[in-house]
Amino acid sequence: MPRLETALTKKLGIEHPVLLAPMGGNSGGAMASAVTEAGGLGIIGGGPGDRTFLEREIGRAGNSRVGIGFITWAIEDKPEIVSVALERQPAALFLSFGDHTPYVDEIKRAGVPLICQIQTLEQAIAAIDSGADVIVAQGQEAGGHGMTVRGTISLVPAIVDRAGDIPVVAAGGLADGRGLAAALMLGASGILMGTRFCAAEESLWQPDMKASVVAARGDDTIRTSVFDMLRGPDWPAPFDGRAVRIEAAERWQGREADLRENLDKERAAFTEAGKRGDSGTKVVWAGEGVDLIQDVQPAGDIVQQTVDQAVAMLTDKKTYSLV
Ligand SMILES: Cc1cc2nc3c(=O)[nH]c(=O)nc-3n(C[C@H](O)[C@H](O)[C@H](O)COP(=O)(O)O)c2cc1C
Repeated sequence: MPRLETALTKKLGIEHPVLLAPMGGNSGGAMASAVTEAGGLGIIGGGPGDRTFLEREIGRAGNSRVGIGFITWAIEDKPEIVSVALERQPAALFLSFGDHTPYVDEIKRAGVPLICQIQTLEQAIAAIDSGADVIVAQGQEAGGHGMTVRGTISLVPAIVDRAGDIPVVAAGGLADGRGLAAALMLGASGILMGTRFCAAEESLWQPDMKASVVAARGDDTIRTSVFDMLRGPDWPAPFDGRAVRIEAAERWQGREADLRENLDKERAAFTEAGKRGDSGTKVVWAGEGVDLIQDVQPAGDIVQQTVDQAVAMLTDKKTYSLV
């Protein structure tokens, strides 16, 4: 089977154009290592920058060459966590959701590639201008946090047209080799998957959460800020999140101002119900691509199958003929 070589694989020195999303509390060192060892790039989800978690998971990645990601707005009060990450000489530093510019100089000095995940063309242009080495274009189909603005299919080529030599990676709703092949057709140099890896054996999620991902359909997911409002911590505007719908989120979606007025009471009730084991309080972050996930698999198999399927789609399983 041939390999897919792209601007991304060359820039990051990897075999396959598949990145593991740095999912906080989910993409730990074992999963990042498994993705890297399979030829993609595993990225540890450093989330809001908990140092104990980060050091433990870096340790679990062993000698594998992995990246580290942070939620940018959430590390504003602990910028030193970026230095902690850079000391480990990660394969890349991945920043999403907020202003990454205060960290660019330090990341460049460390000689570590900077990957910026963005949700709009405007953010992409700002990231390109500030020196990002790779842009991840996240559409609103994505699982977890993001923005309700752009769909992956139009956002990716719009950014490709502005990015010059900088590799653009597609994210959001891509969960198999068809997504990878399509992303390449849009001009992307690879894909980043989160939801698909939520159902990986090495994911840090509990088995019931993985089972929910396997059982869910894309129609079952909704993007709203209500999940964060009810669970806490609240995320700053304009960010919201996509998860499997729960009754409480549906009840408040579109009535966020009312919820905010009653937030303490509603959050306390939600937390109490969670302590009682009410499954209606379980927030399973997942994207529209869940339809394509049929089982829990080793992360390395997911990488290999994604690449094999994309190669097949691009060669002998084409859905069209040139006549
Ligand atoms: C469970 C979950 C947790 C996530 N956590 C983070 C995070 O901590 N930092 C981040 O940059 N992105 C996070 N994301 C978003 C991913 O980076 C990525 O954009 C998204 O998963 C891509 O869409 P997909 O889920 O359809 O593959 C998360 C996504 C999921 C599903």
